[in-house]
Amino acid sequence: MISKIFFSLTNNILMNNIFIRFGVDSILTSRFGIYKRIKINTSLSPQQMAGFSEKPTVQEAINKIHDQLETLVQQNLKEGDRILDIGCGPGAYLKKWEGKYDLTGIDINEEMVNAAKKYIPTATFLLDNFLNHDFDHKFKLIYSVSVLEFIPPSRLMAFFRKVHLLLEPDGKLLIQYPHALNFKDTLYPDLYYVEYSPRKIEHELRKNYQIITHEHCFDRRIIDLYDPKPYEPGIRTFKNGYLLIAEPTIKPNN
Ligand SMILES: C[S@@+](CC[C@H](N)C(=O)[O-])C[C@H]1O[C@@H](n2cnc3c(N)ncnc32)[C@H](O)[C@@H]1O
Repeated sequence: MISKIFFSLTNNILMNNIFIRFGVDSILTSRFGIYKRIKINTSLSPQQMAGFSEKPTVQEAINKIHDQLETLVQQNLKEGDRILDIGCGPGAYLKKWEGKYDLTGIDINEEMVNAAKKYIPTATFLLDNFLNHDFDHKFKLIYSVSVLEFIPPSRLMAFFRKVHLLLEPDGKLLIQYPHALNFKDTLYPDLYYVEYSPRKIEHELRKNYQIITHEHCFDRRIIDLYDPKPYEPGIRTFKNGYLLIAEPTIKPNN
C-alpha cells in the first residue's frame, strides 16, 4: 500500500528526470520494478507466462522476432556456440536451439527461472540482475526481447557496455524493445516501463557497435525520436517494437 502511494506520487516526468540525473532510478527500479516479485501462472505457455497473449496480431509480431533470431543463428553460429538470452523469462526463445548450442538464460524473477529450467533442462539458467552478474565466458550471440524497457535510463550505457564485454569479437547482438510512441515518452513519464527512442539507443551504441539493422520490427519502417503512427494507440502491444541487430566494432579487452 505504502509502495503504491509512493509509486503514484513519484512516477512522473519531473521526479523521474531528477532521479535519473542522480542515478536514483536504478535504486527505485530494483526496489519496485514489476518483474522482481511478479507471480506467474505455470499452466500457461512460456509466451503467456512472459506476459504476451497469443492473439493473431501479437503472434504475428512475435513470430517476426523468432524468424530474425533464427536467421542470425543460421548465418553466424556453428554448432556448440554460446548464446545468451538476457531477461529470458520462461525460455520461449531459447527452446528451439536445445541440444544444438550452448544455451544460457538470465532473469531477475525466480519463478521465470524455475519455469525455464523445467522447459529446457539442458540449458543454464541464472537467477540474477543482468547488470550485476559476473559471467565467466563470452557469447557468440546475445539477445534480449522486451527487456530494455525495464533497464533504468541511468544504467542504459552500462547495459550496452556489459553486452559489449560479453560478446565474442565476431559476435552479434539482437535487441527488441518497445519504442517511444510520442514526444512525452522520450521524457521518461514511466520509470518502470521506459519506451526508449531509437535515437537514444543509437547514441548509446555509437562508440562500441556497428549497427547492422535498426528498424521497426513489424513493418521495417525507420523512425527516429518516436513513432508518430503507432499500432493500436494508447495500448501497449508487442507490435509497437523496434529491432536492433549490431556487432562490436572495438575488440573487447577482457
Ligand atoms: C516481458 S518479459 C520478456 C521475457 C522473454 N524475453 C520473452 O520475450 O518471452 C521481461 C523479462 O525480463 C526480466 N528482467 C527485467 N529486468 C531484468 C534484469 N535487469 N536482469 C535480468 N532479467 C530482467 C523479467 O524478469 C522478465 O522475465
